[in-house]
Amino acid sequence: MSLVTTTEMFKKAYNGGYAVGAFNVNNMEIVQGITEAAGELKSPVILQVSKGARAYANHTYLVKLVEAAVIENPEIPIALHLDHGDSFELCKSCIDGGFTSVMIDASSKSFEDNIALTKQVVEYAHEHGVVVEAELGTLAGIEDEVVVESGHESYTRPEEVEEFVTRTGCDSLAIAIGTSHGAYKFTAAQCTRNADGILVPPPLRFDVLEEVSKRLPGFPIVLHGSSSVPQEFVKMVNQYGGNMPDAVGIPEEQLRKAATLSVCKINIDSDIRLAMTGNIRKYFAEHPDHFDPRQYLKPARQAVKDMVAHKIVNVLGSDGKA
Ligand code: G3H
Ligand code: 13P
Ligand code: ZN
Repeated sequence: MSLVTTTEMFKKAYNGGYAVGAFNVNNMEIVQGITEAAGELKSPVILQVSKGARAYANHTYLVKLVEAAVIENPEIPIALHLDHGDSFELCKSCIDGGFTSVMIDASSKSFEDNIALTKQVVEYAHEHGVVVEAELGTLAGIEDEVVVESGHESYTRPEEVEEFVTRTGCDSLAIAIGTSHGAYKFTAAQCTRNADGILVPPPLRFDVLEEVSKRLPGFPIVLHGSSSVPQEFVKMVNQYGGNMPDAVGIPEEQLRKAATLSVCKINIDSDIRLAMTGNIRKYFAEHPDHFDPRQYLKPARQAVKDMVAHKIVNVLGSDGKA
């Protein structure tokens, strides 16, 4: 199978009550960890590349790594997606350069400006057989160079979604229902603490999701900022010399519920970073004399694979759906 768009993936996910995982890729080990898990579990998967990833690893290297994963995993559909495209030029460059899906994130602009830019990207993308994800509403957290302070996020307004989708022609819509980017998704003031002293975040706004879905029947919804920040990795980082106090994510049960509704794509990046960093820190603490990158990247890659397999089975429900 060659690279695919998300059209068929989302149709099946919507009707089947599951979601497809969209995992950010920045290097070979991450691509391998994700696609080995998806391949073994016969799950569709979206590999996504941010502007920062392109700046770090270079467009061509990332495309070729993803093409290698397609060759190695011929039985599963794989889409290559631009995450948080912030301009027409960036989206065009990825469309021209082999991506099958792009996101134009004009969510920080006015409603009219968001529509105008999204429409421009959709027209070019559709002429080239590429699909487009757009965004309405603002998540808290850090995405590429944009930092939205906690308290300055805004939930998607359901009354705007039909007009936005109709006028732009976008293929999927990212909405803000309380998820947030990064490993510090909520301040202590926004949370309660459980018996172990771990922060418990405010619940996602399923009322907003339901209202959006009612207005856009059959239309695929996307959730960004959906890492769960597993406490086992936070503990591992902290145990082996790191310092990540009060890192907290979205509870997996809530993402599982979203996946059974209209949410067809769930974005996960921070959990990959935590899985790798925790394991690399542990490796160095246990093997202070080692210096071959293959030695410490091997458990890091395995940790990505195990984490992605866990998400596919327990959060996304996409196993066996290839
Ligand atoms: O939402 C943003 C993603 O986590 C990508 O992060 O811009 O640091 O590559 P990045
Ligand atoms: P996390 O920071 O929660 O992993 O979200 C990633 C994301 O939304 C990428 O677009
Ligand atoms: Zn995002």
